[in-house]
Amino acid sequence: MLQPVRPSSSLFRRKPLDETATDSGLKRVLGPVSLIALGIGAIIGAGLFSLTGIAAGDNAGPAVTLSYIIAAVACGFAGLCYSELASMIPVAGSAYSYAYVTMGELMAWIIGWDLVLEYAVGAATVSVSWSGYVTSLLAGWGIHLPARLTVSPFETIHLAGGGTVHGIANLPAACIIILVSLLLIRGTSESARVNAAIVVIKLAVIAAFIGFGLPWIDTANYHPFIPPNAGTFGHFGFSGVMRAAGTIFFAYIGFDALSTAAQETKNPKRDMPIGIIGSLLICTTAYVCFSFVLTGIVNYTDMANDPAPVATAIDRTHILWLQIAVKLGVICGFTSVLLVLLLGQSRVFFAMSRDGLLPPMFSHTHPRFHTPWLSNLFFMAVTGLLAAFLPIAELGHMTSIGTLLAFVIVCAGVMVLRHQAPDRERKFRLPGGATIPVLGIISCLSVMVSLDGLTWLRLVVWLLIGLAIYFLYGRKRSLLNGRPR
Ligand code: ALA
Repeated sequence: MLQPVRPSSSLFRRKPLDETATDSGLKRVLGPVSLIALGIGAIIGAGLFSLTGIAAGDNAGPAVTLSYIIAAVACGFAGLCYSELASMIPVAGSAYSYAYVTMGELMAWIIGWDLVLEYAVGAATVSVSWSGYVTSLLAGWGIHLPARLTVSPFETIHLAGGGTVHGIANLPAACIIILVSLLLIRGTSESARVNAAIVVIKLAVIAAFIGFGLPWIDTANYHPFIPPNAGTFGHFGFSGVMRAAGTIFFAYIGFDALSTAAQETKNPKRDMPIGIIGSLLICTTAYVCFSFVLTGIVNYTDMANDPAPVATAIDRTHILWLQIAVKLGVICGFTSVLLVLLLGQSRVFFAMSRDGLLPPMFSHTHPRFHTPWLSNLFFMAVTGLLAAFLPIAELGHMTSIGTLLAFVIVCAGVMVLRHQAPDRERKFRLPGGATIPVLGIISCLSVMVSLDGLTWLRLVVWLLIGLAIYFLYGRKRSLLNGRPR
């Protein structure tokens, strides 16, 4: 069994497994269906609608469908590992909490800090895309928002009469962050209900695209299915299929956010694996069908320089309402992604704060709504400012690298816990010994390696800032020091 030493000054001091299940003040309101809906809410968003065409046109051709399956397998390994840990350690905090009981405090801090990249930076990135879609939809209806109030000061706008001006702030992006944060403060079950409605719209739009698109498929567009490599790595051929898998990995990000809501789940040991695996399976099926229909309607060679291949595909079906429905579906889709990412962010800081590693305000729950409202307000401000004033889209890869690092640590955590607590009950136990965790680590590391050097550098800088905060604040105040905060 685990033998933590308390109090301890070791950087690798571990939180006892049995102490993770304390009363949190959060309400247990989520069942398996809400969890699957939350998962789909978090997963389907910018990735499917914006990246499929790019990945097909630049890297994989019709075989982007294969890339979706490859990325799903990598996420599936990680999802299975998350499920085993979530069924054993059913607490808020997700990968952070798992690392705390398996690899110790320092690793837990690193992963908690790293998850800010996935959740808060990810939410800011998605809010900027949301703003772009809303601005263009409104423009289509003749409503023109002041251009300088829709982009950050780092971006320029081309004036109709020639010349350029800088933006002032991306106000729509900040507004959606504020709205979603207020909803989260209002309550988890209210947020889950809004999310469920959005998920229905999102899936209906994808189903409509597939259903109405099928008759317009030209099978000639599937030849060659894997276009021959064009001479450079990642430009078609097998390497292109892999590169495309790295790009569309973003489309799967989010399923892990589910495990942050374990303390609000009625029966987390049973329902968490159902939620994670169920939502991944549904999204994979939707992605594969969607990309198959898209590449069947539009030839991949036409997608390379097309900013909106999905719109082009719908144009070819001559069904006008479908175009508006898809845009609305995309906007709704982005909103639910924001909802779950911001939920995940506040729950990770909630768990870190309860362990003493962050100030108590992050685990203060609202007396009536039972939500960590101060944490929600804090991230509303931080994420809203990021979205309004920074060219955040450039930081999108940070979300992917942060998520992949979390996946690697979670897969490793399964193996460590099998060694440390072999006899502990696991409601969901992965078959095949270490095979799935090892495959998870290898597949996630391969995708990380495909990301560029600047992204790696930013990750290292971010982690160094986090370490400074840990040594200046959390290490001294950790509850594992054995003294009250
Ligand atoms: N998977 C989410 C999306 O594609 C982050 O928007």
